[in-house]
Amino acid sequence: MCGIIGIIGKDQVADRLVDGLRRMEYRGYDSAGVCTVKDGALVRRRAEGKLANLVKELAAHPAPGTVGIAHTRWATHGAPTTSNAHPHATGEVALVHNGIIENFRPLREALIARGRRFESETDTEVVAHLISEQVEAGKSPQEAVEAVLPQLRGAFALAIAFRQHPDLLIGARLGSPLVVGYGEGETYLGSDALALAPLTQRIAYLEEGDWVVITRDGVRIFDRENKEVERDVTTSGVTAAAVEKGPYRHFMQKEIFEQPTVVAQTLSSYIRPLEQTVALPQMDFDLDGIDRITIVACGTSFYAGMVAKYWFETFARVPVDIDVASEFRYRDPVLQPGGLALFISQSGETADTLAALRHCKAQGQTIAVVVNVPTSSMAREADLLLPTHAGPEIGVASTKAFTCQLAVLAALAAHLALRKGKLSAAEEREIVRHLIEAPAALNAALAHDEEIAAMAHLVAPARDVLYLGRGPDYPLALEGALKLKEISYIHAEGYASGEMKHGPIALIDEAVPVIVLAPSGPLFEKTVSNMQEVMARGGKIVLISDAEGLAEAGEGSMATIEMPRVHPLIAPLVYAVPVQLLAYHVAVAKGTDVDQPRNLAKSVTVE
Ligand code: M6R
Repeated sequence: MCGIIGIIGKDQVADRLVDGLRRMEYRGYDSAGVCTVKDGALVRRRAEGKLANLVKELAAHPAPGTVGIAHTRWATHGAPTTSNAHPHATGEVALVHNGIIENFRPLREALIARGRRFESETDTEVVAHLISEQVEAGKSPQEAVEAVLPQLRGAFALAIAFRQHPDLLIGARLGSPLVVGYGEGETYLGSDALALAPLTQRIAYLEEGDWVVITRDGVRIFDRENKEVERDVTTSGVTAAAVEKGPYRHFMQKEIFEQPTVVAQTLSSYIRPLEQTVALPQMDFDLDGIDRITIVACGTSFYAGMVAKYWFETFARVPVDIDVASEFRYRDPVLQPGGLALFISQSGETADTLAALRHCKAQGQTIAVVVNVPTSSMAREADLLLPTHAGPEIGVASTKAFTCQLAVLAALAAHLALRKGKLSAAEEREIVRHLIEAPAALNAALAHDEEIAAMAHLVAPARDVLYLGRGPDYPLALEGALKLKEISYIHAEGYASGEMKHGPIALIDEAVPVIVLAPSGPLFEKTVSNMQEVMARGGKIVLISDAEGLAEAGEGSMATIEMPRVHPLIAPLVYAVPVQLLAYHVAVAKGTDVDQPRNLAKSVTVE
């Protein structure tokens, strides 16, 4: 949601804080701000909009000092203006916050009644005032934070600087991630290891309720009972280079093109190519007793879960319920004792999904997590951890995380089917053979990049676009529509192609491009019939199929995109590529901000 960073350093920190924000800008880009401590004063610089505006502000009004905090914001409470930008400060205290203080209204009213004056509409500012009150009453920074944290409800990661204490920063986390970085005579706080990548790779992940006092050469961590605790210091392995665009114009483009590599990388942890068998990373994990699966996720990860529902039911004959995480808890779902709850997330920090995970855990479900960030909250709370190895995904539109999730889910479905006695060894070998083909097929799909770029002008002027697919390719139609919406701002909807005739076909006219996903296979004929119903009403079709499919049904389409001929199992991975590329090139043609589309953030850590 928002990104926060703090440095207690040997040298000037403002530029390094901004550099850290640059690596976290994918978390939010409504405003940015920095506050340093210098000669007994808090030096605060803020700007609305992208980080570039803060850079200009700092060029005009530098923020000297060797201690500081900084923030990049995705607005929740209050418009994205400079006065609502973090850090929020009083005369004594400045702080940055990621999360939501849910009880900020009563706290704010009580503070106003005690004579405090607010300068923003944010929930965060109450925390600055509460801590400031304590400091003004003579408490030390530690005592002040210890007194205030129990008053806060909701989710927070905080980094706090004190006017009179240029020798320390305090951090705290509950529900939002926060890490401590260990440098040489310097110490850091950050929302993630990525933010600190060029500064240090020695990272401690704070646990729920932890708070921490950092100085230049020391770190003291306390748990929610204020007992001093130790947290492991690990080597993050995230290098600064992992978050560079390289020769690509956008991170999204780079990440689309990384898919053959990262899918192969991910599959190598889930299959044994020589033996042609499936092998989960936690092979000893007992799935034999699982009779029902509940899948919960958001956005693109949810669509990966929808594809997996087809696989779990087809191969393992295990019934699957699937929900978007934001709805799941509130419908009070009936969970079968002994069931498996499966959560899918790129970030592992999405608040809705994390809350659903904790709900299922409290109900005694076994928790399986397919996640790309191995140090995330979801990864740490899983019984069965199923990592994807997509590497850092920076573009707000998820691409490579999706295909890696599909690779893991296909392997999991095959493993479950084997355990349930629904798959023979020969069938297992066949599935593995198809999975092994996926990276090459992804490469072949990427070879159509230029052609897709050339047809972007057919879609770019549209006000509405429809995507159609059947079976496991129906979720891909939803994913295609989501990709187009989020980066090109064109209204798009995905439908199960057979559902068109029940209403949406009324929308069809020559101004509405209809993207049809129709790989050869058992559902091809049916999809093509639905496509013809659209054509008969003047609909302009973009047909995505293989050579056989295009030869059979391509005539009369406005455009066609040829995919390699693949087994239906891996079709959802391969057909993800043209829908990603189409959305990407349409967005480029429209001149939108591909990697940082309006109103969005990469990691949504509020409900
Ligand atoms: O990190 P997660 O996979 O949990 O994130 C879920 C969604 O927020 C995410 O997939 C979102 O829909 C993307 N912007 C889609 O491209």
